[in-house]
Amino acid sequence: MLSARSARLAVFASGNGSNFEALASAASRGELGGDLVAVLSDNPQAFALERARLHGIEALTPPTGRFRSRLEDETPWLDALRERRIDVVLLAGFMRRLHAPLLDAFARRMLNIHPSLLPAFPGLDAIGQAWRHGVRVTGCTVHLVEDALDAGPIVAQATVEVREDDTQESLEARMHAAEHRLYPAAVRRYLTEPFRLDGRRLVFGAEE
Ligand code: GAR
Repeated sequence: MLSARSARLAVFASGNGSNFEALASAASRGELGGDLVAVLSDNPQAFALERARLHGIEALTPPTGRFRSRLEDETPWLDALRERRIDVVLLAGFMRRLHAPLLDAFARRMLNIHPSLLPAFPGLDAIGQAWRHGVRVTGCTVHLVEDALDAGPIVAQATVEVREDDTQESLEARMHAAEHRLYPAAVRRYLTEPFRLDGRRLVFGAEE
């Protein structure tokens, strides 16, 4: 739990932004536990930016530099967050690795959603990885972001059963629906309930 005042939230998104949409819808119903202030994207074509504008939320594209898998300079991104007094960053399909400037500034204040039951299937195309592996149960994970790929203390997980008659496409559709339920609920819990870290374990509830 952060503070008594309503937390100011920013979303980082690279693509379609369906998870942003779920977060924004929950926020507009007053169910997110904080205020969604801005969307930042590394991709000026990201539909997430259009969705933000439709919700009346500021849409930003700070410079990314020359690299594809990370931001060359995180300073403009950090400045944009500081100027807007952002408390918590929510990664929602943000496809670049982040590093010390942003991770240190937002330690324990940055969440990510990943479409697998971590630690299984980190990285790209997690749903496809699980599908090809032939798992019978998969799911999605919301976790605190650390300097490691799709890792960090787990805030919430939801399972999705792989059905006998599934195709990868039908599994993907149920996975996304599960993400859209899980992420807003996990953010609300993270923002409104006290928690502590016991090693890797994130434990909700007031101290004894
Ligand atoms: C989501 O499935 C999200 O979990 C995944 O990208 C998709 C973005 O969809 N993120 C990762 O794989 C992060 N490692 P969206 O743009 O429609 O929210």
